[in-house]
Amino acid sequence: MKKITYGTPEKYTPAVFCENFSYTETEITYPVDQIKFKCNQRGCVLTLPLGSEEQIYGLGLQLKTFNLRGKKLIIRPNADPVAATGDSHAPVPFFVSTAGYGIYVDTARYAEFYFGSSKFLTEKEEPVGKKEIASSTEQLYAAKNTGDSNISIQIPAARGVDIYVIEGKNITDVVAQYNMLAGGGCSVPEWGLSAIYRCDGRYTQERVLEAAQKLREDEIPVGIIGLEPGWHSRAYSCSYVWDKEMYPEPQKLVDGLRNLDYHVNLWEHAFVHPESPIYKELVPYSGDYEVWNGCVPDLSMEGAREIFASYHKKLVDMGIDGFKLDECDSSDYTGSWSFPNLAEFPSGMDGEQYHSLFGTLYMQTILKALGDNPTFSDVRNAGALSSSYPFVLYSDLYDHRDFIRGCATAGFGGVLWTPEVRHADTKEEFVRRLQSNVFSVQCLINAWYCEVFPWLAHDCKQEVKELLELREKLKPMLKKAFDKYKETGIPPVRALVSDYSDDAETYNIDDQYIFCDDLIVAPIIAGENSREVYLPAGQWRDYFTKKPVESGRFTVSTDSIPVYEKM
Ligand code: GAL
Repeated sequence: MKKITYGTPEKYTPAVFCENFSYTETEITYPVDQIKFKCNQRGCVLTLPLGSEEQIYGLGLQLKTFNLRGKKLIIRPNADPVAATGDSHAPVPFFVSTAGYGIYVDTARYAEFYFGSSKFLTEKEEPVGKKEIASSTEQLYAAKNTGDSNISIQIPAARGVDIYVIEGKNITDVVAQYNMLAGGGCSVPEWGLSAIYRCDGRYTQERVLEAAQKLREDEIPVGIIGLEPGWHSRAYSCSYVWDKEMYPEPQKLVDGLRNLDYHVNLWEHAFVHPESPIYKELVPYSGDYEVWNGCVPDLSMEGAREIFASYHKKLVDMGIDGFKLDECDSSDYTGSWSFPNLAEFPSGMDGEQYHSLFGTLYMQTILKALGDNPTFSDVRNAGALSSSYPFVLYSDLYDHRDFIRGCATAGFGGVLWTPEVRHADTKEEFVRRLQSNVFSVQCLINAWYCEVFPWLAHDCKQEVKELLELREKLKPMLKKAFDKYKETGIPPVRALVSDYSDDAETYNIDDQYIFCDDLIVAPIIAGENSREVYLPAGQWRDYFTKKPVESGRFTVSTDSIPVYEKM
């Protein structure tokens, strides 16, 4: 791995705020002399070579796109990333190539990555597609391989940047080193890997306890109960104070849940309501724009962190051991609710930088409140170098295919993703969604708007019970994978191309993923009774029946989820 500095890097970058940052230079063979750097009126630009066969992946969690070769993306935090533009809950300026390298660009800017969409021809080359008349828009705009080309990266506003060139035997090896740069993967307690049930936000204390008891009676193995906005006296923005009417005896509730052997997770976001006990103290540490009438504390500042964390410690002392840090991917695109990029924060950061770092700073602050208490929590924004934080990303979007793609792409960027289950239109859909959720890093039923257990509408309590029992069985394997993540940086869930970077058949597989080293999971979407599966060369067997399965491509049809185990 080699760090190269071009021009004068900015003061605020992800590496500056990465608490566990650890860089050791090693020899590399990458042609560093071919990287070009210049400043222009929009910031600075890096240009790098791109070989004709290279495939590119990464830029954090991408729900709408996978192989980035031939694409142009701008990495921008967005609560509603509906298109393949680079917008994401967790955009990360790090990409990897099948040619055995990856580049981390240490910036908190909405950088633009141009992965060889086109190029200038050399004198010897003929222009391609001279006389191709398309008959559909898909055909018209389909990415064309332009042969040897280049990658251009525009970093707005900056007059310089540090990059880290990482080499490895395959993508997994490169990603692992990138994660080690951030201090390795996160440490996760085994209980965190049990299913989470998030109750309807309108539930009272009594209803929560009733639901928790019912789950125990029905022997549905859930390990964590999550409370949604209703627990706050003010929720948008947040007060972090228990609502007296809905939650008159919060300690009794937490104790009651803990007696039933649950861990407890609280929803919140970091826009602080004027009635919150920490509001006045936080205002001097806040940006110059409000969100939902709340102040936006600059959590890069020690003072703000201290106020926020020591208040939250009181919740931790009550027995809370998880938080859901919502809305910190706050962008300006969903109902225009968040602070603009031109906002100014007291540390000197602008809104663009703060948007990029918000999730990371928020996770750090909450971890400070949790102290030595282990957690496996949730967050809606993460950024570069955040692999060592035990938080999982989720979304308000709900396309099942995109959710499965997220399992494959998150592993390219040191972030974790859950394809959460909420409601479903049919029993089949509920079961199909839960199947993929069980084989993911966090098994999350987010019933925040469901008055009753969402499976009751489809009469599939038995299926839910069996799937969550399966989840319980998977926990030791997943825990081992997380321990390995922590030690080596190898993500517990990753795309096939990550391990099999030499196998061109895997280059565009975004609907299967590797789970805990030895399994390949190929979820089925509701409405599709069968699907095509690809297993790379090797000895495989069906995870459930233990019958050997030939590698290569084949079609499978099952009510269960296709999972294959390496022998
Ligand atoms: C959303 C979040 C949902 C739920 C809801 C409650 O922002 O993504 O999962 O928590 O808020 O208001």
